[in-house]
Amino acid sequence: MPTAVKSVLPVVLLGCGGVGRYLLRHIVSCRPLHANQGVAIRVVGVADSSSLLVADDVNSSGLDDALLTHLCAAKSAGSPLSSLLGQGNYQLFRNPEARSKVIDAATMLGRTTGLVLVDCSATYDTVNLMKDAVGHGCCIVLANKKPLTGAYEDFQKLVSNFRQIRFESTVGAGLPVIASVTRIVASGDPISRIVGSLSDPRDDLGGMDVARKALILARLLGQQISMDNINVESLYPSELGPDAVSTEDFLESGLEQLDRSMEERVKAASSRGNVLRYVCEIGSKRCQVGLKELPKDSVLGRLRGSDNVVEIYSRCYKSSPLVIQGAGAGNDTTAAGVLADIMDLQDLFQKPA
Ligand SMILES: NC(=O)c1ccc[n+]([C@@H]2O[C@H](COP(=O)([O-])OP(=O)(O)OC[C@H]3O[C@@H](n4cnc5c(N)ncnc54)[C@H](OP(=O)(O)O)[C@@H]3O)[C@@H](O)[C@H]2O)c1
Repeated sequence: MPTAVKSVLPVVLLGCGGVGRYLLRHIVSCRPLHANQGVAIRVVGVADSSSLLVADDVNSSGLDDALLTHLCAAKSAGSPLSSLLGQGNYQLFRNPEARSKVIDAATMLGRTTGLVLVDCSATYDTVNLMKDAVGHGCCIVLANKKPLTGAYEDFQKLVSNFRQIRFESTVGAGLPVIASVTRIVASGDPISRIVGSLSDPRDDLGGMDVARKALILARLLGQQISMDNINVESLYPSELGPDAVSTEDFLESGLEQLDRSMEERVKAASSRGNVLRYVCEIGSKRCQVGLKELPKDSVLGRLRGSDNVVEIYSRCYKSSPLVIQGAGAGNDTTAAGVLADIMDLQDLFQKPA
């Protein structure tokens, strides 16, 4: 006998780049699994940087799976959402109207069925939409770190109803870092230190992406700080920064220069039996991001490839920290983390028996 649907979660997705498209594919491919659990995810809208595709009647229907699959293929091929002007039970709005249509959906569904607004964009521009959604009683899920790492007041507003926000994928992609920190904090076990390698330096030579992750963790520990308070060591000197040299010149001669000086540091560390790792360190009062010399056989020293690792020290995890390690990036893994976050909200969408 088929399982009765207990929870229907209407979703509006902001951003259908690498992560957003994987999320839509996961939602479609997990339909049978979710149906067995009595859950249905109804994607009522999808937005990119210029448009919003939204179901005709967000109260009762979503965008169908064939359309979602077609949409992913079109975006993968580089076409904007606005190219999808075919037949179907949906409408397309361009900016700036698209933004007000998202707010309309949040206002209407926030009052009735509820809504999960999912941010898989990579911009700070979504922050007001996310705050509005929270104001209308909607749930929010973020893979995008930027709204959580702007002004402290924005962070406060976004997390003001902590049961209705999930942002696991902002730190360590699918790894349960936020959930672990949140559980330890909730248990009254004071966290004294978090140390982590949370980057793929090839993507983030300036260290800002890791700094954002560190800021999210520091704010979760109750520190009312901003990006300005984080000491960030960039892997390139300012004379090789984007304001000083073009990307072409950087790749042609700048990288070679960087490699030489880095090689010397690596050799010096190795002569002491150590390795260099780019780490973030969050203490009770300070937060910093940069290269650190560590013993080869430490948890961080043994790290290979693009794995992430986080060590959490607290009263209960004092001499033996809680260690979370695994793949910390990738569209598939990140999207899986976002989907798990959405599913984690299902109890808030349960139909009355
Ligand atoms: N990939 C990973 O391994 C990973 C891991 C953890 C977290 N994340 C985070 O996940 C997020 C998404 O990453 P990604 O790799 O998918 O980025 P991406 O490929 O650059 O995609 C970003 C998407 O956001 C859309 N967008 C831009 N401005 C928007 C707006 N104002 N409203 C709605 N949509 C908007 C873009 O539209 P267009 O298509 O029109 O340009 C694009 O579809 C980022 O914040 C990233 O830091 C990624």
